[in-house]
Amino acid sequence: MSQPSQFAVFGHPIAHSLSPRIHEAFARQFGIALEYRTIDATPAEFVAAVRGFFAAGGAGANVTLPHKAAAFALADERSAAATRAGSANVLTPLADGRLAAHNTDGDGLVRDLTERHRVDLRGHDALMLGAGGAARGVAWSLLDAGVQTLTIVNRTPETADALADAIGEPARVHTRYWNDLADLGSYDLIVNATSAGVLGEGLKLPPSLVGARALCCDLAYGSAAIGFLAWARAAGARYAFDGLGMLVETAADAFELWHGRRPDTEPVYQALRAS
Ligand code: ATR
Repeated sequence: MSQPSQFAVFGHPIAHSLSPRIHEAFARQFGIALEYRTIDATPAEFVAAVRGFFAAGGAGANVTLPHKAAAFALADERSAAATRAGSANVLTPLADGRLAAHNTDGDGLVRDLTERHRVDLRGHDALMLGAGGAARGVAWSLLDAGVQTLTIVNRTPETADALADAIGEPARVHTRYWNDLADLGSYDLIVNATSAGVLGEGLKLPPSLVGARALCCDLAYGSAAIGFLAWARAAGARYAFDGLGMLVETAADAFELWHGRRPDTEPVYQALRAS
């Protein structure tokens, strides 16, 4: 019997990743045999670890913090979404040992919000906190989903300006200063794309940001999202979601790239949520 196809997620740290569980659950839906493991690689080790994995026959890889920009850089071909984000969360092997980079984060977020949670983003005034890799991964997709305006606020204002410049839609995309958050008024959609929660740092945010029908979502999940979601609920947000649904949706896109089949995400999401 041939060996099952080999998949992996690269990160640092990575031990607590949910990706193996998600991909194994998707694979069971189709009776696909695969092995999916976590590979902990430091930034210095990352490129060699990826090359070694694919040289040994690896069939596909996910990439998470802090390697998404490096994954984009090492690839030979890049999807449009990866190119505009400058980062990749999925690598697929091409012929002759070459690699293709994809970024499914933005589509995953929008699908989680619009299909799972049934929120129509069209016409929303959106505020994005943060302008790093996670923010770049979702900004264009929010605009594609029809948000009316996107205001980017980052602790380091130059990074927010650089992202707004890269998007190049001055009529819809604005930047403001972090110190002015209390004066910005309210938003319909607030996306926490900072890594503050992951780093164990709290964000001090004024409740005035949260509009009457506001949807607040954190791109992180688990304990990293608790502080932001508690703030959102206390400030009266209509919806407060963490990034678990986005994670499952981005995994579904990776699964489809690798296996050519679309898994049913809902039972996998519900099982993870329950545990
Ligand atoms: P990621 O890939 O998770 O986005 P990143 O590219 O390092 O990681 O970006 C981290 C983002 O979180 C940045 O926007 C960062 O702000 P700076 O550009 O000013 O560094 C933001 N961030 C991290 N810790 C923060 C904190 N305590 N308060 C506010 N913003 C924070």
